[in-house]
Amino acid sequence: MIWVIAYGLQGLHALGYQPDALTAAMTWYLAETQLPDGSWAGLDFRPPIKAGQIMGTALSVKALLDYPSEYRTRPVQERIAHARRWLEQAQAPDFTQMVYRYLGLGWAGGTPSELQSEISNLLALQRADGGWAPPAGLESDAWATGLTLTALHDADRLVPTDAAYRRGVEFLLRTQFEDGSWWVKSRTWPFQPHFDSGFPHGKDQWISASGTSLAVIALLNTLEPVAPGKSFPSAQELIAKYSKSASPTSAPGLVSAKEGAAPPTDATFVRDIKPIFEKSCLACHGGDKPKGALDLGTVANLIKGGQSGQPAIIPGQPDASPLLRFVQDRIKDLEMPPLGRRARYPALTKAEVGMLRDRIQHQGDLPAKP
Ligand code: HEC
Repeated sequence: MIWVIAYGLQGLHALGYQPDALTAAMTWYLAETQLPDGSWAGLDFRPPIKAGQIMGTALSVKALLDYPSEYRTRPVQERIAHARRWLEQAQAPDFTQMVYRYLGLGWAGGTPSELQSEISNLLALQRADGGWAPPAGLESDAWATGLTLTALHDADRLVPTDAAYRRGVEFLLRTQFEDGSWWVKSRTWPFQPHFDSGFPHGKDQWISASGTSLAVIALLNTLEPVAPGKSFPSAQELIAKYSKSASPTSAPGLVSAKEGAAPPTDATFVRDIKPIFEKSCLACHGGDKPKGALDLGTVANLIKGGQSGQPAIIPGQPDASPLLRFVQDRIKDLEMPPLGRRARYPALTKAEVGMLRDRIQHQGDLPAKP
């Protein structure tokens, strides 16, 4: 129950809803369900949106602060101080609760030094691709990234011009789908029959909708306040702003966010390029344990890249694509195939490099308009 109420109040507050009898009833319920130790139980465990006691406590604190009113049994400040003491000693069992412990402490007036170590911990978890990831082997995604960026931003600890924020934004722009959504893999287990909400990404649609919202909030935070009568910058302007600041290899083309850009057409790319890769690359970059953590079998993998965290190709930008540099021996110690193995895996011919360049160039093309 506390989830519906705490999230509900957070939503009402975001909309500028004024306190009234409804919000008073909701906060009264929250206040009365605080446990003797200062926490809120958050019994209904459906991670990451309902992810346990720390998160329930943080969200309840926020709701009580947003809609303060007098409670029969205990003043609200006392309740919040009590919750804060509980949060101070709580051990976050996972990434989401780590973020919410930080948020809860901040909302409850935690000391700067407490927050400083939380912030360092969160920043240290940013991955080479600019995103954040939940634990347990999942990849960086819009949910974890959007949550972390907005959490650090809301507490004024990370501003959009900071390098970490910009890298996070680049990650989000790079991973947005053509339809505007982000895909986030579900972390929970099904316990009721799936029904379709209409949001993309099939059975992952619920967490994807939430992740898309968080990503949008993180991106909105980068905008200057909009003067009355002016409109928001377009997606194009936003992308231009972010891609300018970054070097060609670290600005991975922001490809998929390009307005109207085609989703990579795997079929043609793979058809044309596969023979080349088969001859010179796939022995190492395929199978269970591909070298450099890069499996060259799909376009999605090429865009995602391997252990470096950099994309291997940037559709539409062959010269900025690391892979094309590697196969032309332009980068010392990253010549591909590796120099010492060329007896077995031949270097690409000029014609093959040309073909690869051409394919990367056109990979980001718009689809033919029907
Ligand atoms: C004999 C094995 C071998 C062959 C063949 C080979 N590679 Fe590699 N490749 C590696 C290894 C090992 C690494 C990791 C190198 C490192 O990070 O120091 C790597 C890394 C890479 C990376 C960087 C991945 C990342 O993001 O970290 C790219 C891109 C790449 N190879 C492309 C190719 C292409 C394209 C071909 C074929 C033209 C090829 N490789 C052939 C062994 C191979």
